[in-house]
Amino acid sequence: MAILVTGGAGYIGSHSVLALLERGDEVIVIDNLSNSSQESLVRVAELTGKNPTLYVANVLDKNILRTIFSKHSITDVIHFAGLKSVGESIKKPLEYYENNVTGTIVLLSEMLNAGVNSLIFSSSATVYGNPEKVPLSEDCQTGGTTNPYGTSKLMVEQILRDFSLAQPEFRITCLRYFNPVGAHQSGRIGEDPNGIPNNLVPYISQVAIGKLKCLSVYGNDYPTPDGTGVRDYIHVLDLASGHLAALDHQNEGASFKAINLGTGVGYSVIDLIEAFEKTSQTKINYKIVERRAGDIAECWSDSSLAKQTLGWQATRTIDEMMRDTWNWQKNNPNGYSS
Ligand code: NAD
Ligand code: UD1
Repeated sequence: MAILVTGGAGYIGSHSVLALLERGDEVIVIDNLSNSSQESLVRVAELTGKNPTLYVANVLDKNILRTIFSKHSITDVIHFAGLKSVGESIKKPLEYYENNVTGTIVLLSEMLNAGVNSLIFSSSATVYGNPEKVPLSEDCQTGGTTNPYGTSKLMVEQILRDFSLAQPEFRITCLRYFNPVGAHQSGRIGEDPNGIPNNLVPYISQVAIGKLKCLSVYGNDYPTPDGTGVRDYIHVLDLASGHLAALDHQNEGASFKAINLGTGVGYSVIDLIEAFEKTSQTKINYKIVERRAGDIAECWSDSSLAKQTLGWQATRTIDEMMRDTWNWQKNNPNGYSS
């Protein structure tokens, strides 16, 4: 009995593989290493004393999927594999739709062929577009995404919903992540973005280590308490445990579910800078600049459905998120290549 994890060498995938191995699951990973390094899984093996089986391959390759499903007794699939850069998706829409949408369709067809009928999909709070209200609950309107990345997540959710009507024996859970941050407390695995980070927390930590000079805070004129954008940051290990809970409750409730994974609390950019400075004892050089196109003022989750249906809630504080980010950054100034 094994769990197939697509994209398992990536940021959220590697922390989830670690959590699965720690609780005794057998794990098979398929990852083409397009945005990750095999080193993450070497370190996961070091930390857990257990080895996941890795196939370096593309989820678009149905022959490899067929081989994997025939060689291993897979019960469930967690589908992290996908491209995730908003800016890049605007420049390369076809690549994004092919990887994220076609990749999921190929995976689903091969699951159907193999009789594997449990899927957990990495969705995102981005499917809510510009939030109609906060906190965002799962029955809030979705749509109005402003880039191919966000639209690909919305499309996959729709495809999975349609597919589950046609194949009622399938159990499908879309987990809508809010803003994943942090790293394993060992400082051995963490987020290793390519080039200059787009997201706030990796940017802050690279300013702290001296790789980047100054953080640009995108706007301080939003209708929020201090004028800067507010988000629901969630520790990546809480996110990983959310996947374990989703697996445990896969056979309960409706055959298709969409569930928020967030903390239910919003923090501003300035809150984050201050929490980072406090926990790392460093100074973050920043300046206020224009708003970033496509940004929303505030976004945080109503996380009660996850509590009710999965018995799960995030437990790690913003200070722990910043502490673990800093521990990873200072021990691996160049990510996995250091
Ligand atoms: P990541 O880039 O670190 O991990 C994705 C992994 O998938 C990488 O290891 C990459 O090499 C692999 N991959 C990509 N395309 C592939 C393909 N066609 N075949 C095989 N492997 C492939 O990203 P992450 O932050 O760990 O995100 C995981 C998932 O969660 C993604 O689907 C992402 O869209 C989603 N998500 C992420 C965030 C976030 O802020 N990190 C927020 C919401 C949703
Ligand atoms: C971004 C993506 C979103 C994706 C999410 C997780 C955009 C428009 N949205 O969301 O689709 O699901 O990442 O990967 O890119 N900020 C700064 N300076 C920076 C970086 C960010 O001030 O250098 C601010 C932003 O304006 C925002 C907050 O920090 O208020 C968080 O930004 P970020 O980490 O990029 O996440 P999101 O914008 O929530």
